[in-house]
Formats: sequence, C-alpha cells, structure tokens
Amino acid sequence: DKGNHRHFMEKEIYEQPEVISHALSHYIDFANHAVKPVVDDLDFSKLRGLAISACGTAYLAGLVGKYWFERYARLPVEIDVASEFRYREMPLSPDQAALFISQSGETADTLASLRYCRDNGLKIGAVVNVKESTIAREADAVFPILAGPEIGVASTKAFTCQLAVLASLAIAAGRARGTLTEADERQLVRHLAEMPRIMSQVLNAVQPQIEALSRELSKFKDVLYLGRGTSYPLALEGALKLKEISYIHAEGYAAGELKHGPIALIDENMPVIVIAPHDRFFEKTVSNMQEVAARGGRIIFITDDKGAAASKLETMATIVLPEVAELISPMVFSIPIQLLAYHTAVFMGTDVDQPRNLAKSVTVE
Ligand code: F6R
Repeated sequence: DKGNHRHFMEKEIYEQPEVISHALSHYIDFANHAVKPVVDDLDFSKLRGLAISACGTAYLAGLVGKYWFERYARLPVEIDVASEFRYREMPLSPDQAALFISQSGETADTLASLRYCRDNGLKIGAVVNVKESTIAREADAVFPILAGPEIGVASTKAFTCQLAVLASLAIAAGRARGTLTEADERQLVRHLAEMPRIMSQVLNAVQPQIEALSRELSKFKDVLYLGRGTSYPLALEGALKLKEISYIHAEGYAAGELKHGPIALIDENMPVIVIAPHDRFFEKTVSNMQEVAARGGRIIFITDDKGAAASKLETMATIVLPEVAELISPMVFSIPIQLLAYHTAVFMGTDVDQPRNLAKSVTVE
C-alpha cells in the first residue's frame, strides 16, 4: 500500500525518520546515552581488522562505514564489492572479522563472500533487512536494520537504516577498543538521537525546491556528483540512484579526483552536483567547485547554512540543509539526493518502482 504517495519509492523516502528511529532504538539506550550490548556479538576489542563486502547501495553504505570504523575505532577496514571480494583470494586471518551488508540477505555474490570468509575462520556479522534470509542464517551475529519491507527497487530507507546500524556498531567498536571515551559515546549517541527529527525537517523543507530543480535536471544527459570524506560514498550513491531510475548517465567521484580526469568533461551540458556540508573538508571541496565554475560548469550545491554563507560561487541551485554533526551528515544528506533522483525520474516518465532491467533481489552472480 502506497498510502497517499505516487510510488513506493516516495513512500519509503518519507518513512525514513520513523524507521530510523525504530532501528536506532534497537541499538541505542537513549536514556543512558549509550550503545546497547546487542552490538557486542562481534567482539570488536581484539580485532586486527574488519573486512566488509556487499553490492550496490549496500556496498556504498559499507564504504561510509569504513570511514567511521577507521576514525572512531581505529579499526582497519578492507572493503570491496562482493563480486570482486569473492574471487580476489585476499589473505584473511581469524583475528579479523567480516561484515556483510544486504537488504534482501539473498544476494549471491555477498553470500559467496560470506562463505569465503567463514572458510577462512573469520567471525561473520550480517547487517540485513530480511531477518529470515540466507545471509542472516549463515552469520554468527545478525544486526537487523529494521527498515520494514522495501518495495521500490531503488534502495532508500534500507540505505539510511544500514548507515544508522553501522554508525552504532562503529561507536560500540570505539568503546570496546578504548578509542572513544564514555563522554565521546554520549556525544555521538546524542547526535544519532537528533537524527530522525532533523530528517523530517529536511524532508519537508527541501521538497518543493528539489522538485522544481528536477525538472531542469531531467533535460541533461550526463551528471557528475562530487564529495569528500563520507560525502564521497554519498556522491557515488547519488549517481547510482539517478542512473538506475531516471536512466540519465551519472558518475560519482571523490572531489579530489576531479583534476585527474573528469574535469575534461566539464562544460555547460554536464551539471556537477557537489555534496559539501561545512565539515573538515569544506574548503578543499569549494576549491574543486571553483575549478568547475571556471570551466563554465553548472553547479548544484548541496550544503548547510554555514557552507552556503561561506561560498560566493554562482550556482544553478543551492540546496541548504541545517548544520548537523559530522556523524549524521551522510543520513541527512541522503534525503536531497534521493528526492532529486526520484523527482527527476518522475519528470522523465520512467517506471520509478520497477526500473528496466533491474530486480530487487539478485540471487544469481
Ligand atoms: C540500488 C540497489 C542495489 C542493491 C544491491 C544489493 O538502489 O538497490 O544496488 O543495493 O543489489 O542488494 P542487497 O542489499 O539486497 O544485497
């Protein structure tokens, strides 16, 4: 049932504050500002490393997770798409654990990677939506994302719920490894607690502007997304979402890679979507944006209040979100990215919930 929404995808985008709040309550003890013991099943304290494997959007959630595990828990993360991971014959040892992320829990390549790690003696964690799935069954520790059924083929709420779970796990890992203090944990948990409210506020605030902008965007054939830090996986996710439902060619790049190739493509026919909250990387990303502007590129700038005030560049559109803590910015900034892909696809007249050639669950390699 789509309720009063035109598509399941739209409904699922709007459900995010509610489902994330539900997911967080499984992992976070809000009264005590602490991560619950459910996350201890992987015993992060003694790990030498973590291997993460997944496909598509779930892989991109894992890539955000890598930044968090490394930063907050000083835990080295090896991550790859499952179709490569399973055949790379990478050296693994039992002092590493492995984490598999899958909405369906049935993705063939992800399952094969899981079995490869299990055969190498690694403890297996699974971040899944479908709890009765094969991947959940074969894991030692299951971390449900509690997003509820996701019907739209393009993943939206599963992505942000995967992020919420990975953020909780990274905080738990940081506590277990002594790299986060109790005070750090309280602070980070407070940020997570604020997230559902901020996401609802953003959903309401940006929708009309993004719908209008999507009409413009639907006239282009190619789009480039740029971001740094955790906004880099988000740039990849933005490009994936746009291409799979609107069929507009889109690429995501780390902002710093612009001058190593993609800058050759910049002209007025390829809008550049820059995802840049006013974080540690802001100045660097703005200098990449200047390089785009200097070559006549049109910029869609997705930033926060502080970032909007700090940049003087002319843009095709500037989407301004509230300033949020660094930990929650990937979830909050997912909203304009999802809405932009969604409304663009609606203008293109594509089958948003069932894009051509795609299946919700990929059980063959
Ligand atoms: C993109 C999308 C796919 C899936 C991928 C993995 O919007 O939905 O890229 O993320 O096929 O599927 P799961 O998470 O079921 O393993």
